Amino acid sequence: MQSSQTWIQALFYLALITVSLYLLQFFILSDRLMVSHHKVILKKHPHFPLRFNSDGTFKILQVNFQIHFRALKVADMHYGTGLTRCRDVLSSEFEWCSDLNTTSFLKRMIDAEKPDFIAFTGDNIFGSSTNDAAESLFKAFAPAMAARLPWAAVLGNHDQESTMTREELMSFISLMDYSVSQPNPPTIPPTHIDGFGNYDLKVRGPPGSHLANQTILNLFFLDSGDRALVHGFKTYGWIKESQLTWLRTASKGRNEETNQSEPPPSLAFFHIPIPEIRSGPFREIFGQYHEQVACSIVNPGVLKTLVSMGDVKAVFIGHDHLNDFCGNLDGIWFCYGGGFGYHGYGRAGWARRGRVIVAELKKGKNDWMGVERIKTWKRIDDKMLTKFDDQILWTSG
Ligand SMILES: *[C@@H]1O[C@H](CO)[C@@H](O)[C@H](O)[C@H]1NC(C)=O
Ligand SMILES: *[C@@H]1O[C@H](CO)[C@@H](O)[C@H](O)[C@H]1NC(C)=O
Ligand SMILES: *[C@@H]1O[C@H](CO)[C@@H](O)[C@H](O)[C@H]1NC(C)=O
Repeated sequence: MQSSQTWIQALFYLALITVSLYLLQFFILSDRLMVSHHKVILKKHPHFPLRFNSDGTFKILQVNFQIHFRALKVADMHYGTGLTRCRDVLSSEFEWCSDLNTTSFLKRMIDAEKPDFIAFTGDNIFGSSTNDAAESLFKAFAPAMAARLPWAAVLGNHDQESTMTREELMSFISLMDYSVSQPNPPTIPPTHIDGFGNYDLKVRGPPGSHLANQTILNLFFLDSGDRALVHGFKTYGWIKESQLTWLRTASKGRNEETNQSEPPPSLAFFHIPIPEIRSGPFREIFGQYHEQVACSIVNPGVLKTLVSMGDVKAVFIGHDHLNDFCGNLDGIWFCYGGGFGYHGYGRAGWARRGRVIVAELKKGKNDWMGVERIKTWKRIDDKMLTKFDDQILWTSG
């Protein structure tokens, strides 16, 4: 008698748990998550891992934004008369220029270049003039998501100025469609890494080739911080020692993973320039240098670290909108994206611009070999998307 009652009770609880789980999945976990008041359909993933194309190329579009869309809804928003006016355009352009021009420039760049990946190098939203970070992020990255391109972002010094902290921003960005951004990598053993948005992405060889399962190019992303107060001086943030330690370990691990005679090349992306870009001297410089480099007064030794690692061949930065040059410091190229967005400051009559980076593989007798060349060029936002400053950054051997 007693035991059969226990059985009935057990069955009853089992049924209760099953029904609860069913209801939980039906109402809460189904296909909608609520993030504040936004309905977010579960993330759409890009093809992963990243890999070279069958023609032996991997193309990156670098976007140095500063976009912001006011999160107001207007029923009748004429194209070219968006809500945010452009900064620093000619007075003849002013009336027909808005944030929509930034979106349109990004779409046209994607159509023209058909990149495999987009790297957003910070100040993705202009925090202080937006009142809803999530809405602005959706608008800023919309063209990348619409094109179903894998994309990654780092934070600049303005992103956190509205409704999300840097930590929240990176978590949010990592959950957006086709994003391959990460808040921070898991480390073994767990260690603290300063900032949010330090991660590396591995790019594999072309499908079907003998390099298909090997990392042949690395992309490192680093959080260069926002602002800081140092001995009473207001200055910009900088890359901390904990981040450099992580970078060295990641680079070393990656090199040991592959059996190539030379470790695979790497590219790095962050927002704020390092002090050596300000002080120079450059071995070579290519492109335009129109404003003083705005960096931190603290020099954490990023250049020294990169030189000692050996695999990083070029670094892509944002921040200064009137510089679009590549400068060579101790054998490593540091390249500005140039101002891309119309809400960020610029110079009237000096067109907004974006950078393209291409890695090309060496063709062997029967199959692809490792990366042979890394090239870059820029395009300006004119009718023809004029291409200029074609440059080779690195060649193997
Ligand atoms: C912005 O877009 C409008 C509409 O296409 C165009 O007429 C205008 O010339 C653009 N402005 C700039 C500065 O590119
Ligand atoms: C790569 O990995 C896949 C899946 O494990 C395997 O089928 C394929 O043969 C591997 N290719 C090479 C070149 O090692
Ligand atoms: C690298 O070489 C070692 C020994 O020569 C071999 O055991 C290992 O499988 C190789 N690894 C790769 C990724 O080819």
